Amino acid sequence: MSTFYLTTPIYYVNARPHLGHACTTIMADAMCRYRRLRGDRVYFLTGTDEHGERIAQVAAAAGKSPQAYADEIAGAFRETWRRLGITNDDFIRTTEPRHRKVVQEVLQRLYDAGEIYFGEYGGWYCFGCERFYTEKEIVDGKCPDHQTALTFIKEKNYFFKMSKYQAWLIKHLEDNPDFIQPDRYRNEVLGFLREPLQDLSISRPTSRLEWGIPLPFDDKYVTYVWFDALLNYYSAVASGGEKTSGLWEHVEHLIGKDILKPHGVYWPTMLKAAGIPLYRHLHVHGYWSLGGSKMSKSVGNVVEAFQLTDKYGHDAFRYFLLREMNFGLDASFSEEAFVDRLNADLANDLGNLASRASTLIAAAGPVATVTAPVEAADREIATAAAEARAVIEQAMEEFAFQKALGGRSGPGSSACSAPSPTRWASSASCWSRSSRTRPGRSARRSGRVAP
Ligand code: MSP
Repeated sequence: MSTFYLTTPIYYVNARPHLGHACTTIMADAMCRYRRLRGDRVYFLTGTDEHGERIAQVAAAAGKSPQAYADEIAGAFRETWRRLGITNDDFIRTTEPRHRKVVQEVLQRLYDAGEIYFGEYGGWYCFGCERFYTEKEIVDGKCPDHQTALTFIKEKNYFFKMSKYQAWLIKHLEDNPDFIQPDRYRNEVLGFLREPLQDLSISRPTSRLEWGIPLPFDDKYVTYVWFDALLNYYSAVASGGEKTSGLWEHVEHLIGKDILKPHGVYWPTMLKAAGIPLYRHLHVHGYWSLGGSKMSKSVGNVVEAFQLTDKYGHDAFRYFLLREMNFGLDASFSEEAFVDRLNADLANDLGNLASRASTLIAAAGPVATVTAPVEAADREIATAAAEARAVIEQAMEEFAFQKALGGRSGPGSSACSAPSPTRWASSASCWSRSSRTRPGRSARRSGRVAP
Protein backbone atom coordinates (compact mmCIF):
# COMPACT_ATOMS: atom_id res chain seq x y z
CA MET A 1 0.00 0.00 0.00
CA SER A 2 1.50 3.35 -0.93
CA THR A 3 0.87 6.58 0.93
CA PHE A 4 -0.43 9.65 -0.84
CA TYR A 5 -0.73 13.05 0.84
CA LEU A 6 -2.21 15.69 -1.47
CA THR A 7 -2.83 19.38 -0.77
CA THR A 8 -4.68 22.19 -2.52
CA PRO A 9 -3.62 25.82 -2.09
CA ILE A 10 -5.22 27.33 0.98
CA TYR A 11 -7.60 29.94 -0.37
CA TYR A 12 -7.65 33.57 0.65
CA VAL A 13 -10.67 34.53 2.68
CA ASN A 14 -11.03 37.86 0.89
CA ALA A 15 -13.45 36.29 -1.60
CA ARG A 16 -16.16 33.66 -1.54
CA PRO A 17 -15.46 30.33 -3.23
CA HIS A 18 -15.59 30.55 -7.02
CA LEU A 19 -15.02 28.47 -10.12
CA GLY A 20 -11.21 28.72 -9.93
CA HIS A 21 -11.06 27.45 -6.36
CA ALA A 22 -13.58 24.73 -7.20
CA CYS A 23 -11.46 23.58 -10.14
CA THR A 24 -8.37 22.87 -8.03
CA THR A 25 -10.35 21.33 -5.20
CA ILE A 26 -12.33 19.08 -7.55
CA MET A 27 -9.14 17.92 -9.29
CA ALA A 28 -7.58 17.09 -5.92
CA ASP A 29 -10.74 15.32 -4.84
CA ALA A 30 -10.91 13.23 -8.02
CA MET A 31 -7.27 12.24 -7.58
CA CYS A 32 -7.76 11.28 -3.92
CA ARG A 33 -10.88 9.25 -4.67
CA TYR A 34 -8.95 7.44 -7.41
CA ARG A 35 -6.01 6.68 -5.11
CA ARG A 36 -8.36 5.43 -2.38
CA LEU A 37 -10.00 3.09 -4.90
CA ARG A 38 -6.54 1.78 -5.73
CA GLY A 39 -6.13 0.88 -2.06
CA ASP A 40 -3.61 3.59 -1.12
CA ARG A 41 -3.42 5.33 2.23
CA VAL A 42 -4.68 8.80 1.28
CA TYR A 43 -4.67 12.10 3.13
CA PHE A 44 -6.29 15.10 1.48
CA LEU A 45 -5.78 18.61 2.86
CA THR A 46 -7.39 21.89 1.97
CA GLY A 47 -8.04 25.06 3.95
CA THR A 48 -7.94 28.84 4.11
CA ASP A 49 -5.24 31.50 4.14
CA GLU A 50 -6.42 34.13 6.60
CA HIS A 51 -3.65 36.60 7.44
CA GLY A 52 -2.15 39.51 5.55
CA GLU A 53 -2.86 42.94 4.29
CA ARG A 54 -5.66 42.22 1.87
CA ILE A 55 -7.73 40.32 4.44
CA ALA A 56 -7.25 43.15 6.93
CA GLN A 57 -8.37 45.60 4.23
CA VAL A 58 -11.56 43.79 3.15
CA ALA A 59 -12.53 43.12 6.77
CA ALA A 60 -12.13 46.81 7.58
CA ALA A 61 -14.18 47.75 4.52
CA ALA A 62 -16.93 45.37 5.71
CA GLY A 63 -16.79 46.91 9.20
CA LYS A 64 -15.71 43.61 10.80
CA SER A 65 -12.69 42.39 12.70
CA PRO A 66 -10.33 40.33 10.53
CA GLN A 67 -11.04 37.26 12.66
CA ALA A 68 -14.83 37.61 12.37
CA TYR A 69 -14.48 38.14 8.62
CA ALA A 70 -12.17 35.13 8.26
CA ASP A 71 -14.55 32.95 10.31
CA GLU A 72 -17.41 33.83 7.99
CA ILE A 73 -15.58 33.14 4.71
CA ALA A 74 -13.76 30.05 5.99
CA GLY A 75 -17.22 28.75 6.92
CA ALA A 76 -18.41 29.44 3.36
CA PHE A 77 -15.47 27.43 1.92
CA ARG A 78 -16.12 24.51 4.26
CA GLU A 79 -19.80 24.53 3.43
CA THR A 80 -19.15 24.72 -0.33
CA TRP A 81 -16.81 21.74 -0.24
CA ARG A 82 -19.35 19.78 1.81
CA ARG A 83 -22.08 20.60 -0.70
CA LEU A 84 -19.87 19.52 -3.63
CA GLY A 85 -19.06 16.20 -1.93
CA ILE A 86 -15.35 16.97 -1.50
CA THR A 87 -13.67 14.24 0.56
CA ASN A 88 -10.93 16.23 2.32
CA ASP A 89 -9.55 14.66 5.51
CA ASP A 90 -8.66 17.97 7.11
CA PHE A 91 -9.35 21.67 6.67
CA ILE A 92 -6.61 23.91 8.01
CA ARG A 93 -6.99 27.60 8.85
CA THR A 94 -3.87 29.69 9.33
CA THR A 95 -5.43 31.40 12.35
CA GLU A 96 -5.51 28.09 14.27
CA PRO A 97 -3.12 27.68 17.23
CA ARG A 98 -1.71 24.40 15.78
CA HIS A 99 -0.51 26.32 12.73
CA ARG A 100 0.77 29.38 14.56
CA LYS A 101 2.86 27.15 16.83
CA VAL A 102 4.63 25.47 13.89
CA VAL A 103 5.22 28.78 12.05
CA GLN A 104 6.84 30.28 15.15
CA GLU A 105 8.95 27.16 15.75
CA VAL A 106 10.25 27.15 12.17
CA LEU A 107 10.99 30.90 12.28
CA GLN A 108 12.90 30.53 15.54
CA ARG A 109 14.86 27.60 14.14
CA LEU A 110 15.85 29.58 11.04
CA TYR A 111 16.71 32.65 13.11
CA ASP A 112 18.90 30.62 15.48
CA ALA A 113 20.64 29.02 12.51
CA GLY A 114 21.51 32.47 11.07
CA GLU A 115 19.18 32.02 8.07
CA ILE A 116 17.25 35.22 8.89
CA TYR A 117 18.70 38.72 9.19
CA PHE A 118 17.40 42.28 9.66
CA GLY A 119 17.75 44.66 6.72
CA GLU A 120 16.13 47.20 4.45
CA TYR A 121 14.61 46.73 1.01
CA GLY A 122 12.82 48.93 -1.47
CA GLY A 123 10.83 47.52 -4.38
CA TRP A 124 7.60 47.45 -6.38
CA TYR A 125 4.87 45.75 -4.41
CA CYS A 126 1.46 44.32 -5.39
CA PHE A 127 -1.02 44.38 -2.53
CA GLY A 128 -3.21 41.84 -4.35
CA CYS A 129 -0.41 39.27 -4.59
CA GLU A 130 1.23 40.49 -1.37
CA ARG A 131 4.65 40.26 -2.93
CA PHE A 132 7.37 42.34 -4.55
CA TYR A 133 7.84 42.14 -8.30
CA THR A 134 11.21 42.33 -10.03
CA GLU A 135 11.69 44.76 -12.94
CA LYS A 136 11.58 41.84 -15.37
CA GLU A 137 8.24 40.55 -14.11
CA ILE A 138 6.45 43.90 -14.28
CA VAL A 139 4.23 44.34 -17.37
CA ASP A 140 3.53 47.95 -18.48
CA GLY A 141 4.33 49.14 -14.97
CA LYS A 142 1.59 46.90 -13.56
CA CYS A 143 1.16 43.60 -11.72
CA PRO A 144 1.02 40.90 -14.45
CA ASP A 145 -1.65 39.03 -12.50
CA HIS A 146 -3.99 41.77 -11.29
CA GLN A 147 -3.14 44.41 -13.92
CA THR A 148 -3.16 47.01 -11.15
CA ALA A 149 -0.56 49.67 -10.39
CA LEU A 150 2.30 48.63 -8.12
CA THR A 151 3.42 50.61 -5.06
CA PHE A 152 7.05 51.36 -4.28
CA ILE A 153 7.70 50.27 -0.70
CA LYS A 154 10.90 50.75 1.24
CA GLU A 155 11.06 49.51 4.81
CA LYS A 156 13.12 47.65 7.38
CA ASN A 157 12.24 43.99 7.65
CA TYR A 158 13.55 40.55 8.43
CA PHE A 159 14.91 38.63 5.46
CA PHE A 160 15.34 34.94 4.78
CA LYS A 161 18.63 34.16 2.99
CA MET A 162 16.90 32.67 -0.03
CA SER A 163 19.62 33.74 -2.48
CA LYS A 164 21.99 31.30 -0.81
CA TYR A 165 19.92 28.39 -2.16
CA GLN A 166 19.78 29.38 -5.82
CA ALA A 167 22.49 26.99 -7.07
CA TRP A 168 21.16 24.19 -4.91
CA LEU A 169 17.60 24.62 -6.27
CA ILE A 170 18.77 24.65 -9.90
CA LYS A 171 20.63 21.42 -9.30
CA HIS A 172 17.65 19.88 -7.54
CA LEU A 173 15.41 20.70 -10.51
CA GLU A 174 17.96 19.28 -12.92
CA ASP A 175 18.45 16.10 -10.92
CA ASN A 176 14.72 15.59 -10.36
CA PRO A 177 12.99 16.34 -13.66
CA ASP A 178 9.57 15.37 -12.26
CA PHE A 179 9.78 17.61 -9.18
CA ILE A 180 7.58 20.21 -10.91
CA GLN A 181 5.04 18.99 -13.51
CA PRO A 182 4.14 19.45 -16.33
CA ASP A 183 7.55 20.29 -17.79
CA ARG A 184 6.60 23.79 -18.95
CA TYR A 185 6.34 24.91 -15.31
CA ARG A 186 9.63 23.32 -14.34
CA ASN A 187 11.15 25.30 -17.21
CA GLU A 188 9.42 28.45 -15.99
CA VAL A 189 10.97 28.04 -12.55
CA LEU A 190 14.38 27.40 -14.12
CA GLY A 191 13.71 30.61 -16.07
CA PHE A 192 13.16 32.59 -12.82
CA LEU A 193 16.40 31.10 -11.56
CA ARG A 194 18.40 32.43 -14.48
CA GLU A 195 18.09 35.85 -12.79
CA PRO A 196 19.88 36.38 -9.49
CA LEU A 197 17.58 35.24 -6.69
CA GLN A 198 16.99 37.83 -3.99
CA ASP A 199 16.51 37.28 -0.30
CA LEU A 200 12.90 37.07 0.84
CA SER A 201 11.38 39.64 3.16
CA ILE A 202 9.51 37.49 5.69
CA SER A 203 8.05 40.13 8.00
CA ARG A 204 5.80 43.17 8.02
CA PRO A 205 6.07 45.89 10.68
CA THR A 206 3.07 45.96 13.06
CA SER A 207 3.06 49.74 12.60
CA ARG A 208 1.68 49.00 9.10
CA LEU A 209 -0.03 45.62 9.60
CA GLU A 210 -1.09 43.86 12.77
CA TRP A 211 -3.03 40.97 11.26
CA GLY A 212 -0.48 38.15 11.22
CA ILE A 213 1.57 35.76 13.32
CA PRO A 214 4.04 37.70 15.52
CA LEU A 215 7.71 36.90 14.90
CA PRO A 216 8.89 34.90 17.93
CA PHE A 217 12.09 37.00 18.11
CA ASP A 218 10.61 40.49 17.56
CA ASP A 219 7.02 41.33 18.45
CA LYS A 220 7.10 44.58 16.48
CA TYR A 221 6.79 42.45 13.35
CA VAL A 222 4.31 39.90 12.03
CA THR A 223 5.14 37.08 9.62
CA TYR A 224 4.85 37.73 5.88
CA VAL A 225 1.67 36.02 4.68
CA TRP A 226 3.34 33.71 2.13
CA PHE A 227 5.89 32.46 4.64
CA ASP A 228 3.01 31.78 7.05
CA ALA A 229 0.70 30.23 4.41
CA LEU A 230 3.16 27.80 2.79
CA LEU A 231 3.86 26.21 6.15
CA ASN A 232 0.20 25.06 6.40
CA TYR A 233 1.05 21.93 4.41
CA TYR A 234 3.52 20.97 7.11
CA SER A 235 1.73 22.27 10.21
CA ALA A 236 -1.37 20.22 9.37
CA VAL A 237 0.55 16.98 9.81
CA ALA A 238 3.47 18.04 12.01
CA SER A 239 1.85 17.01 15.29
CA GLY A 240 2.52 13.42 14.23
CA GLY A 241 -0.67 11.96 15.75
CA GLU A 242 -1.86 8.55 14.60
CA LYS A 243 -3.84 9.96 11.65
CA THR A 244 -0.97 12.00 10.26
CA SER A 245 2.21 10.19 11.21
CA GLY A 246 4.48 9.25 8.32
CA LEU A 247 2.60 11.45 5.85
CA TRP A 248 5.03 14.30 5.32
CA GLU A 249 7.59 12.39 3.22
CA HIS A 250 4.81 11.66 0.71
CA VAL A 251 3.42 15.16 0.29
CA GLU A 252 2.46 16.38 -3.19
CA HIS A 253 0.98 19.79 -3.95
CA LEU A 254 -1.60 20.77 -6.54
CA ILE A 255 -1.77 24.47 -7.48
CA GLY A 256 -2.82 26.86 -10.24
CA LYS A 257 -0.07 28.46 -12.32
CA ASP A 258 -0.54 31.88 -10.64
CA ILE A 259 1.26 30.74 -7.51
CA LEU A 260 4.13 28.87 -9.14
CA LYS A 261 6.90 31.12 -7.85
CA PRO A 262 6.07 30.86 -4.13
CA HIS A 263 5.68 27.06 -4.47
CA GLY A 264 8.52 26.45 -6.91
CA VAL A 265 11.09 28.81 -5.37
CA TYR A 266 10.23 30.11 -1.88
CA TRP A 267 8.85 26.85 -0.50
CA PRO A 268 11.65 24.38 -1.43
CA THR A 269 14.31 26.82 -0.21
CA MET A 270 12.42 27.38 3.06
CA LEU A 271 12.18 23.63 3.60
CA LYS A 272 15.83 23.08 2.75
CA ALA A 273 16.97 25.80 5.17
CA ALA A 274 14.73 24.46 7.95
CA GLY A 275 16.02 20.89 7.45
CA ILE A 276 12.55 19.58 6.54
CA PRO A 277 12.33 17.03 3.68
CA LEU A 278 11.12 18.55 0.40
CA TYR A 279 7.75 17.83 -1.17
CA ARG A 280 7.74 15.00 -3.73
CA HIS A 281 5.96 16.73 -6.58
CA LEU A 282 4.36 20.04 -7.47
CA HIS A 283 1.50 19.62 -9.96
CA VAL A 284 0.51 22.81 -11.75
CA HIS A 285 -2.67 23.39 -13.70
CA GLY A 286 -3.58 26.25 -16.02
CA TYR A 287 -6.16 28.97 -15.68
CA TRP A 288 -9.78 29.16 -16.72
CA SER A 289 -10.83 32.17 -18.71
CA LEU A 290 -14.44 33.20 -19.13
CA GLY A 291 -15.75 33.95 -22.58
CA GLY A 292 -12.19 34.61 -23.76
CA SER A 293 -11.34 37.23 -21.13
CA LYS A 294 -8.89 36.50 -18.35
CA MET A 295 -10.65 35.23 -15.26
CA SER A 296 -8.83 37.48 -12.89
CA LYS A 297 -8.94 37.06 -9.15
CA SER A 298 -10.70 40.40 -8.94
CA VAL A 299 -13.42 39.70 -11.52
CA GLY A 300 -16.86 38.82 -10.16
CA ASN A 301 -17.99 36.62 -13.07
CA VAL A 302 -16.11 33.64 -11.62
CA VAL A 303 -18.74 33.52 -8.91
CA GLU A 304 -21.51 33.60 -11.47
CA ALA A 305 -19.95 30.73 -13.42
CA PHE A 306 -19.77 28.74 -10.22
CA GLN A 307 -23.53 29.01 -9.79
CA LEU A 308 -23.91 26.72 -12.79
CA THR A 309 -23.08 23.83 -10.43
CA ASP A 310 -26.51 24.17 -8.90
CA LYS A 311 -28.23 24.66 -12.24
CA TYR A 312 -26.83 21.53 -13.93
CA GLY A 313 -25.78 19.35 -11.01
CA HIS A 314 -22.50 18.80 -9.22
CA ASP A 315 -21.41 15.68 -11.08
CA ALA A 316 -21.91 17.28 -14.47
CA PHE A 317 -19.93 20.35 -13.36
CA ARG A 318 -17.17 18.19 -11.99
CA TYR A 319 -17.03 16.15 -15.19
CA PHE A 320 -16.81 19.28 -17.33
CA LEU A 321 -13.96 20.83 -15.34
CA LEU A 322 -11.92 17.65 -15.43
CA ARG A 323 -12.63 16.79 -19.06
CA GLU A 324 -12.42 20.23 -20.68
CA MET A 325 -9.08 21.41 -19.30
CA ASN A 326 -5.88 19.82 -20.59
CA PHE A 327 -3.87 19.61 -17.41
CA GLY A 328 -1.22 22.32 -17.35
CA LEU A 329 -2.85 24.42 -20.09
CA ASP A 330 -5.43 27.20 -19.89
CA ALA A 331 -9.05 26.52 -20.77
CA SER A 332 -12.08 28.59 -21.59
CA PHE A 333 -15.31 28.29 -19.66
CA SER A 334 -18.71 28.95 -21.17
CA GLU A 335 -22.18 27.71 -20.44
CA GLU A 336 -22.56 26.60 -24.08
CA ALA A 337 -19.40 24.44 -23.97
CA PHE A 338 -20.57 23.00 -20.66
CA VAL A 339 -24.00 22.06 -22.03
CA ASP A 340 -22.52 20.63 -25.25
CA ARG A 341 -20.27 18.31 -23.30
CA LEU A 342 -23.02 17.38 -20.96
CA ASN A 343 -25.21 16.34 -23.87
CA ALA A 344 -22.53 14.68 -26.00
CA ASP A 345 -20.52 12.83 -23.36
CA LEU A 346 -22.86 12.36 -20.44
CA ALA A 347 -26.39 12.17 -21.83
CA ASN A 348 -25.52 10.47 -25.13
CA ASP A 349 -22.46 8.31 -24.56
CA LEU A 350 -22.40 7.47 -20.87
CA GLY A 351 -26.13 7.94 -20.35
CA ASN A 352 -26.94 5.54 -23.18
CA LEU A 353 -24.44 3.01 -21.95
CA ALA A 354 -25.88 3.14 -18.44
CA SER A 355 -29.46 2.84 -19.65
CA ARG A 356 -28.63 0.01 -22.05
CA ALA A 357 -26.62 -1.85 -19.46
CA SER A 358 -29.37 -1.54 -16.86
CA THR A 359 -32.04 -2.65 -19.35
CA LEU A 360 -29.84 -5.60 -20.31
CA ILE A 361 -29.33 -6.56 -16.69
CA ALA A 362 -33.05 -6.23 -15.94
CA ALA A 363 -33.93 -8.27 -19.03
CA ALA A 364 -31.45 -11.03 -18.33
CA GLY A 365 -32.45 -11.34 -14.68
CA PRO A 366 -30.15 -12.74 -12.00
CA VAL A 367 -27.87 -15.53 -13.23
CA ALA A 368 -25.67 -17.69 -11.03
CA THR A 369 -23.27 -18.75 -13.79
CA VAL A 370 -22.90 -17.29 -17.25
CA THR A 371 -23.44 -20.03 -19.78
CA ALA A 372 -23.72 -18.00 -22.99
CA PRO A 373 -20.77 -18.52 -25.34
CA VAL A 374 -18.10 -15.81 -25.36
CA GLU A 375 -18.00 -14.22 -28.79
CA ALA A 376 -15.34 -12.24 -30.62
CA ALA A 377 -17.10 -8.95 -29.82
CA ASP A 378 -17.05 -9.81 -26.11
CA ARG A 379 -13.36 -10.60 -26.21
CA GLU A 380 -12.68 -7.35 -28.02
CA ILE A 381 -14.54 -5.36 -25.42
CA ALA A 382 -12.74 -7.17 -22.58
CA THR A 383 -9.36 -6.40 -24.19
CA ALA A 384 -10.39 -2.78 -24.74
CA ALA A 385 -11.39 -2.52 -21.07
CA ALA A 386 -7.99 -3.80 -19.94
CA GLU A 387 -6.23 -1.39 -22.31
CA ALA A 388 -8.40 1.50 -21.13
CA ARG A 389 -7.40 0.74 -17.57
CA ALA A 390 -3.71 0.95 -18.45
CA VAL A 391 -4.26 4.27 -20.25
CA ILE A 392 -6.20 5.64 -17.31
CA GLU A 393 -3.56 4.58 -14.79
CA GLN A 394 -0.86 6.29 -16.80
CA ALA A 395 -2.98 9.42 -17.29
CA MET A 396 -3.74 9.66 -13.57
CA GLU A 397 -0.02 9.39 -12.77
CA GLU A 398 0.35 12.64 -14.74
CA PHE A 399 -2.81 14.29 -13.35
CA ALA A 400 -4.03 14.22 -16.98
CA PHE A 401 -7.71 13.95 -16.06
CA GLN A 402 -8.82 14.86 -19.58
CA LYS A 403 -6.93 11.85 -20.94
CA ALA A 404 -8.30 9.50 -18.30
CA LEU A 405 -11.80 10.65 -19.25
CA GLY A 406 -11.33 9.95 -22.93
CA GLY A 407 -9.71 13.04 -24.37
CA ARG A 408 -6.45 13.25 -26.37
CA SER A 409 -6.22 9.56 -27.37
CA GLY A 410 -7.60 8.40 -24.05
CA PRO A 411 -10.03 5.47 -23.93
CA GLY A 412 -13.25 6.16 -25.81
CA SER A 413 -11.89 9.16 -27.73
CA SER A 414 -12.34 9.35 -31.48
CA ALA A 415 -8.58 9.01 -31.90
CA CYS A 416 -8.74 5.67 -30.14
CA SER A 417 -9.54 2.57 -32.19
CA ALA A 418 -10.95 0.63 -29.23
CA PRO A 419 -14.48 -0.76 -29.68
CA SER A 420 -17.18 1.38 -28.10
CA PRO A 421 -18.87 -0.13 -25.03
CA THR A 422 -22.10 1.64 -25.98
CA ARG A 423 -22.07 0.10 -29.44
CA TRP A 424 -21.32 -3.28 -27.92
CA ALA A 425 -24.14 -2.98 -25.37
CA SER A 426 -26.60 -2.34 -28.17
CA SER A 427 -25.16 -4.89 -30.59
CA ALA A 428 -27.39 -7.65 -31.89
CA SER A 429 -25.21 -10.44 -30.54
CA CYS A 430 -25.21 -9.03 -27.04
CA TRP A 431 -29.00 -8.75 -27.06
CA SER A 432 -29.68 -12.07 -28.68
CA ARG A 433 -28.15 -13.72 -25.65
CA SER A 434 -30.56 -12.11 -23.24
CA SER A 435 -34.23 -12.98 -23.20
CA ARG A 436 -35.96 -9.65 -23.92
CA THR A 437 -36.03 -6.80 -26.37
CA ARG A 438 -33.49 -4.00 -26.90
CA PRO A 439 -33.93 -0.68 -25.11
CA GLY A 440 -36.30 1.76 -26.76
CA ARG A 441 -35.63 5.22 -28.03
CA SER A 442 -36.88 6.88 -24.87
CA ALA A 443 -34.19 5.20 -22.79
CA ARG A 444 -31.53 6.22 -25.25
CA ARG A 445 -32.53 9.84 -25.33
CA SER A 446 -32.90 10.30 -21.61
CA GLY A 447 -31.15 13.11 -19.75
CA ARG A 448 -30.37 15.65 -22.48
CA VAL A 449 -30.39 19.23 -21.29
CA ALA A 450 -30.76 22.64 -22.90
CA PRO A 451 -29.01 25.75 -21.53
N1 MSP B 1 -3.73 32.03 -0.56
C1 MSP B 1 -2.98 31.82 -1.75
C2 MSP B 1 -2.43 30.42 -1.82
C3 MSP B 1 -1.58 30.03 -0.65
S1 MSP B 1 -1.09 28.36 -0.73
C4 MSP B 1 0.04 28.18 0.46
C5 MSP B 1 -3.88 32.07 -2.96
N2 MSP B 1 -5.20 31.96 -2.75
S2 MSP B 1 -6.32 32.21 -3.87
O1 MSP B 1 -7.57 32.22 -3.14
O2 MSP B 1 -6.03 33.35 -4.65
O3 MSP B 1 -6.35 30.92 -4.73
C6 MSP B 1 -5.47 30.74 -5.82
C7 MSP B 1 -5.74 29.38 -6.41
O4 MSP B 1 -7.13 29.26 -6.78
C8 MSP B 1 -5.00 29.12 -7.70
O5 MSP B 1 -3.68 28.67 -7.50
C9 MSP B 1 -5.86 28.06 -8.31
O6 MSP B 1 -5.63 26.85 -7.62
C10 MSP B 1 -7.26 28.55 -8.00
N3 MSP B 1 -7.75 29.49 -9.02
C11 MSP B 1 -8.17 30.77 -8.83
N4 MSP B 1 -8.62 31.28 -10.01
C12 MSP B 1 -8.48 30.35 -10.98
C13 MSP B 1 -8.80 30.29 -12.35
N5 MSP B 1 -9.32 31.29 -13.01
N6 MSP B 1 -8.56 29.12 -13.01
C14 MSP B 1 -8.04 28.02 -12.37
N7 MSP B 1 -7.72 28.05 -11.08
C15 MSP B 1 -7.87 29.21 -10.37
O7 MSP B 1 -3.35 32.33 -4.03
